[in-house]
Amino acid sequence: MMSDAEPGDVRTLLRQLPSLAGPLWSFDADNAPEAPQLLFADWLRFAAEVGIREPHAMTLSSVGPDGHPDARMLILKDLDEDWHFASDALSPKGRQIAGAPHVALTFYWARLGRQVRVRGAARAMPAAASTADFRGRSGSARAVALLGRQSQPLAAPSELAEALEVSSARLAHDPDLASASWTLYAVAPTEVEVWQGQASRRHIRLVYRRTPDGWSRSRLWP
Ligand SMILES: Cc1cc2nc3c(=O)[nH]c(=O)nc-3n(C[C@H](O)[C@H](O)[C@H](O)COP(=O)(O)O)c2cc1C
Repeated sequence: MMSDAEPGDVRTLLRQLPSLAGPLWSFDADNAPEAPQLLFADWLRFAAEVGIREPHAMTLSSVGPDGHPDARMLILKDLDEDWHFASDALSPKGRQIAGAPHVALTFYWARLGRQVRVRGAARAMPAAASTADFRGRSGSARAVALLGRQSQPLAAPSELAEALEVSSARLAHDPDLASASWTLYAVAPTEVEVWQGQASRRHIRLVYRRTPDGWSRSRLWP
């Protein structure tokens, strides 16, 4: 157990670390686009342009059969009406989504002080889209995805190395091979909040909510 009297301890470090120190970006919420997808695409493009690393990395939160939340980082694979990600349907997250499709996605671009939160139901895309996603992965990513077994206990690293040799050989022999459980998911958004942090802490927040004819937009207190 760490003692708080320890020199250089974590608590001291945490108090020294700046957060939202600025200079941060601004955001004209009054003139935001009517649809959150347009605003998100603008923010994502901008984050990529200014050189933010992995601006397409996001946290996917889902709920397990015990009602407890779970979360992990994933890569955003596409954006149309929906936000897309890909993973193994037999992984813990895949099983959680099969039982409870409501999920949340969270993006954070620290240098810009921007956060985006997306809530909605995830659904598996048709098999052809999942196969196309699988085939678009790099060779090593395909070899790993072909293994399945994501998040199962690994007894020894040698077991993984041996399994990878087999799956790489299978792919070399049949480059069109695809994992049956690799799945492209689409999240249909019901609520999207964009958050522009301000060093003054007067953060600018705008929430889009799905309505029968489109989207409503409202500002939120910081
Ligand atoms: C930046 C980053 C990106 C990731 N992208 C993916 C991804 O696109 N698909 C995926 O299945 N796992 C991805 N992972 C691994 C997941 O975070 C997670 O470890 C794995 O999917 C197992 O999650 P689960 O046990 O909740 O199913 C990524 C991890 C990081 C740190």
